[in-house]
Amino acid sequence: MAKKATFSSKIGLVAATVGSAVGLGNIWRFPAETQTNGGAAFLFLYILCLIILGVPVMLAEFSLGRGTQSDAVSAFSKLKPHSPWWITGGLAVLASYLILCFYMVVAGWTFEYLWQSITGDLYAVNLAKDGMDASFHAKMEEYICSDLSPLINIYVLIAVNIVVLLCGVQKGIERLSNIAMPILFILLLVFCGVSLSLPNSFEGVKFFLTPDFSKITPSVVVNALGQAFFSLSLGMGILVTYSSYFPKDTKLTKTAFTVSLLDLLVAVLMGFIIFPAISSFGLGNAELRGSTLVFVTLPEIFAQMQGTQLWSVLFFLLLFVAALTSTISIAEVSIAWIQDRFKKSRMVATLIVMLPLFLFSSLCSLSFGSLNSFKIWGMTIFDFLDTVSTNIFLPTVSILTCIFMGWVVKNDFFKKELTNNGMLKGNGYNLTIAIVKYLAPPLILLILVSFFLKL
Ligand code: PHE
Repeated sequence: MAKKATFSSKIGLVAATVGSAVGLGNIWRFPAETQTNGGAAFLFLYILCLIILGVPVMLAEFSLGRGTQSDAVSAFSKLKPHSPWWITGGLAVLASYLILCFYMVVAGWTFEYLWQSITGDLYAVNLAKDGMDASFHAKMEEYICSDLSPLINIYVLIAVNIVVLLCGVQKGIERLSNIAMPILFILLLVFCGVSLSLPNSFEGVKFFLTPDFSKITPSVVVNALGQAFFSLSLGMGILVTYSSYFPKDTKLTKTAFTVSLLDLLVAVLMGFIIFPAISSFGLGNAELRGSTLVFVTLPEIFAQMQGTQLWSVLFFLLLFVAALTSTISIAEVSIAWIQDRFKKSRMVATLIVMLPLFLFSSLCSLSFGSLNSFKIWGMTIFDFLDTVSTNIFLPTVSILTCIFMGWVVKNDFFKKELTNNGMLKGNGYNLTIAIVKYLAPPLILLILVSFFLKL
């Protein structure tokens, strides 16, 4: 059998894991959540969720993957053979694939906007200040809801994914992450500098950093939990898969903290970019939810800045890089599973996973256009996949993983992974195991229950 793939360096494995974690969740979901949920109060809550829940659950996934050196499904069956626990891994693979189908569509949009920034077409709209918002809105709607043009971008993106994934763990995923992540952080810092130096930017900083605790309701707490989960890529099998490529001497706790911190840093930097910019351009009341922030509000801002095209190209490059490294990581879950389970070569496994996407992602994309009236449970295909995978599958997989690592597998296994077989000193592992056993399952259950109650 082929030798188990590993990441070649510590920086590489952190870059790849951060690459997965940093995505549209940080860039367009976080600022919107912060805007509506009390500024720094939400940030504070989010940090709490990351530390109390995110890091321990991440460690459970890391230990499972590194300890078994297996894909997301076999990790469970290796530790508990002849039991139905493998189904948890199966759910993770299914969830990751469903997410891949619709995330590819959104990643395709970022590529279109990058391209239109390069050609300048994005700014061929009504640039009179009072008409701009409507024009960018119309442009976005027209593009997203059209049938053909989004498909072309999706196909380009699938092709890029295939090329990287065919190159393998070290030469594909790790190499891409080593290049992409520094670029992403440099771009974020540049934007932060630019945004903070805009006139009147201070108002925005003040909004971001002033906590309004009156906005914190139980449903906001659940939102913060959900955001932490999505942003750290938990419950998707990604961390189990990636950590199966970690060398035995990787310090899991340190890695989990580093990844969470960098992921948080991106979210916070986005706050320092968005809020000063919107206050400086008098867009303080702009709707930041979802695609509006990046495809309407930001182009409006760039259009009013000197060097419109340059800023626009750089920003959509940033967004594209963030989306690309996320799609790669999520595709790897199914590829690793097919490679391990069916003993297929990387090439065959990659093609089995990626080729059907040409069809599935197309259907998701068309659900904004011709297939818009086709509904499942009253939702379009895109919304259905998004809702089911992020609100139901992700928390379910996470709860089951915590129960598995906390209660089903002997705690010794978890402890051995956290301490690198007793080589690392300290007692932090006791706390981690206790959280995974007692605190994480009921808290995550809250996300699940609140979704069903809202429904
Ligand atoms: N952590 C990612 C984000 O914030 C979530 C994700 C990862 C989504 C991989 C898709 C694929 O966007």
